[in-house]
Amino acid sequence: MEQPGKWHRAALLSDIENDDVVGVTVGEQGEHEVAIYKLGGKCYATADRCTHQTARLSDGLVIDDFIECPLHQGRFHIPTGSARSAPVSTPIRTYPTKVEDGVVYVLVEDLRFE
Ligand code: FES
Repeated sequence: MEQPGKWHRAALLSDIENDDVVGVTVGEQGEHEVAIYKLGGKCYATADRCTHQTARLSDGLVIDDFIECPLHQGRFHIPTGSARSAPVSTPIRTYPTKVEDGVVYVLVEDLRFE
C-alpha cells in the first residue's frame, strides 16, 4: 500500500557518521525538523524535538539504537520512536527513509500554511 506524503531529499549518506545523528529540515517550506541516524549502515529518521521539553535530539548522544536527549538524558528507541527512560514518556514520531545514489530521503506529508 502506498504511504501518504512525499519523499524529500534530507542528507548525503556520506555526511552522516556511522552510529551518529544529524539534524535537518525537510518539507516544501522546511516545516519538519527531522533527525537522521545511521546505525550499522542503515538510516532511520525521527522528529528532532524531544517530547519532554523540546530539546533538539540531533544534539544528543546515540547509544546503540537509542538517542539520549541532551537536556535531561531521556532515551528514545530510534527505530520505533518509543520512549524508554524517564523523564520521557511520550514517543517521538518516526519517518520512513530510503537511500538512492548516496542520498537519504525522508517521507513526510506537506503541511499547508495559510
Ligand atoms: S528535554 Fe529531553 S529529556 Fe527533557
